[in-house]
Amino acid sequence: MDPTIDFDRYDRIRPIRWTGEALELLDQRRLPFHVEYLRCDTHEAVADAIHALVVRGAPAIGIAAAWGVVLAARKVQADDGSEAIAALEPAFARLNAARPTAVNLAWALARMRGALVDADAGWRERLTLAAQAIETEDLAANRAMGVAGAGLLSPGSGVLTHCNTGSLATAGFGTALGVIRAGVAAGVIDEVFAGETRPWNQGARLTVWELQQDGVDATLIADAAAAHLMKSGKVHWVIVGADRICANGDTANKIGTLQLAIAARHHGVKFMVVAPSSTVDMATASGAAIRIEERDAAELLTFRGERTVSEGVRAWNPVFDVTPHDLIDAIVTERGVVHAPDTDRMREMFG
Ligand code: MRU
Repeated sequence: MDPTIDFDRYDRIRPIRWTGEALELLDQRRLPFHVEYLRCDTHEAVADAIHALVVRGAPAIGIAAAWGVVLAARKVQADDGSEAIAALEPAFARLNAARPTAVNLAWALARMRGALVDADAGWRERLTLAAQAIETEDLAANRAMGVAGAGLLSPGSGVLTHCNTGSLATAGFGTALGVIRAGVAAGVIDEVFAGETRPWNQGARLTVWELQQDGVDATLIADAAAAHLMKSGKVHWVIVGADRICANGDTANKIGTLQLAIAARHHGVKFMVVAPSSTVDMATASGAAIRIEERDAAELLTFRGERTVSEGVRAWNPVFDVTPHDLIDAIVTERGVVHAPDTDRMREMFG
């Protein structure tokens, strides 16, 4: 495929804006009908925004947290980096606790902390440069993954994606949605399907809106229609993102990903995970050790604040699941593609 794609033509949305004074986050709770940025002046406001899903998607929450550290630094007096690290510990802890499953959050905070090691009186500048680098590198990684992932698709492909993994979930272009953008640009994708992704409806509210903004034609399906769609033969690849990829290739992603992987294998549909190396967690041996976030049952029991389920009914709301590595055909990262991932192949790529 042609690697010289016009990236900007298919990528116009930016969820995170650093103004030099404050962090502005495109409020994803309000999309698609209200395009509003929420201004955050403190790291506490950033942590709350991450927890409330104002900003969401593994890479985007890492980037937002990095800028949160820059905001926290404004209130800190320190002569050098090691003093700053000590003073910033409560801010690191507060941001890290905002959401548990996506490793990008802890990864970004570790990188911000690392930027302070050995820093002199110019430590604030180091933090700003580190946050900028995290954001810039994410966009570059997404573009590289887009080209690599689209290279796995045959002309005439139908693809199904889940959740929102696009510009809204990253510094731009997206991971799985980046592959879809690149595949459409290269002319190898004929049809794009997006699952609605209940209960928060990232697919219905965000993905199809985002694709519409960029002129990419897509069809929304109910999550429950996925296996039926695969049986129809219209889909050749399921393409999803990731919140944490373990040392053996097991992958945590939005709830519902596991059942897509099982249905894909049953129907002979290929399954691709697309994520930057900042999502790879070689310190976690397998998916069994991943903490799965559980959110308020109200997400299931209500719709737009109104109860839709009879009083007294209980609900269980885990928001991620783990797809075992043997159901994954390819993990696409900016470092390259791991086919049929397992511990040995992951170690070869990620050390
Ligand atoms: O709860 P969310 O919306 O933050 O979940 C997002 C996902 O599961 C995405 O698939 C993942 O973070 C990758 S985003 C590039």
